[in-house]
Amino acid sequence: MLPISIEKMPALNGRIVLLRCDFNVNLTIKKQPLDSTKIIRSYKTINYLLSKGAKVVIIAHLGRPACHAEALRRRAEKDRQLSLRPIYNFLKKDFLALRFVEKPISTINRATFKKGNLFLLENIRFNKGELNNDAKFAKKLALLGDFYVNEAFAASHRKHASLSAITKYLKPFFGFNFIEEISTLKRLKIKKPALLILGGLKVDEKLPMIEKLAPKFSNILLAGGCSFLFYKKQGINVGATKIERSALNSMSLRRLLKNKKILLPQDLIVANAKTLDRVRIVACSRVCNNEAIFDVGPRTILKWSELIKKAKTIIWLGPVGYVDYKQFSHGSAMLAKIIGSRASGRAVGIVGGGETLYSVNKSGMAKYFDYISTGGGATLNAISNNK
Ligand code: 3PG
Repeated sequence: MLPISIEKMPALNGRIVLLRCDFNVNLTIKKQPLDSTKIIRSYKTINYLLSKGAKVVIIAHLGRPACHAEALRRRAEKDRQLSLRPIYNFLKKDFLALRFVEKPISTINRATFKKGNLFLLENIRFNKGELNNDAKFAKKLALLGDFYVNEAFAASHRKHASLSAITKYLKPFFGFNFIEEISTLKRLKIKKPALLILGGLKVDEKLPMIEKLAPKFSNILLAGGCSFLFYKKQGINVGATKIERSALNSMSLRRLLKNKKILLPQDLIVANAKTLDRVRIVACSRVCNNEAIFDVGPRTILKWSELIKKAKTIIWLGPVGYVDYKQFSHGSAMLAKIIGSRASGRAVGIVGGGETLYSVNKSGMAKYFDYISTGGGATLNAISNNK
């Protein structure tokens, strides 16, 4: 189905529009968004709907609230940490009339939106039906509004109720950012030499996509979660680094291990896994048991920069280190500078994903990138599936 723009919506005056946004950003200790690009990219759509006289009810999520038994016991605390209140506080500065609706979906109805014209619902993932794409829950949600708009490109690879099942009850329209993302990625021609640089976590879902994309790229440079799995499988000690064990037996991983296009960091920045001190630069074979991997090392950046200089297409999704910590943000900062210096001319440089954007914005190189996508996994999905 081709996305239908919000500009094609019927008269909106006084009607309730349910607007799904992606405000899933990392928060600093002071509960500020680490990078607000994702949030701000939905402003045009919010303002457009408000200008047409609509009552706008924003649906969004933050993190992954607990579902499994052990975590459920800690749920109250965890939920408090994953409340959208910090996002509300951020948005409130730009939208003075914004109201925060903390109650669960099961306890609210259309009367909740009687007073005011802009609302933010509490983390939609606090409701059980969201993650299961539950039809009953989606129906209850749909009944709260007259129209549904998806402006959550970065989350739209998820089959969740507020993104998928809801469209059974309300015809979906799409926000300005969503349409821009889809049309830009559809137009993308991957010219070789082409590099795909992947960092970040959520590796189990990335592996099959890497496999699918491998023929289109000259090299795939892996850091972060994906690279840890490759080390582990090759018998290289990753010390106390957290790895996504569920992905260790993936068939894609087994096949990818033989793929010569995949390059792993040669050297790493490691530190004591508990205290994060004793930061060292080590060869990838020299990680100690009490250490964890936090960033790529300088030799890796040098080697990768040579490949980047020759590339005609560079797609970078996911930071290569823990950018929330200054001492582990250098690898991503350097990549932002090197790719930015080739993009908009010598190569097509595309970057995506919340924390990656933080590095790019901080480096001052954002304006040189050919395209900045709000999606990480969603962008990878769009490129690999072309939908
Ligand atoms: C993202 O930040 O990648 C999207 O919001 C999806 O989040 P999820 O991986 O927790 O579903």
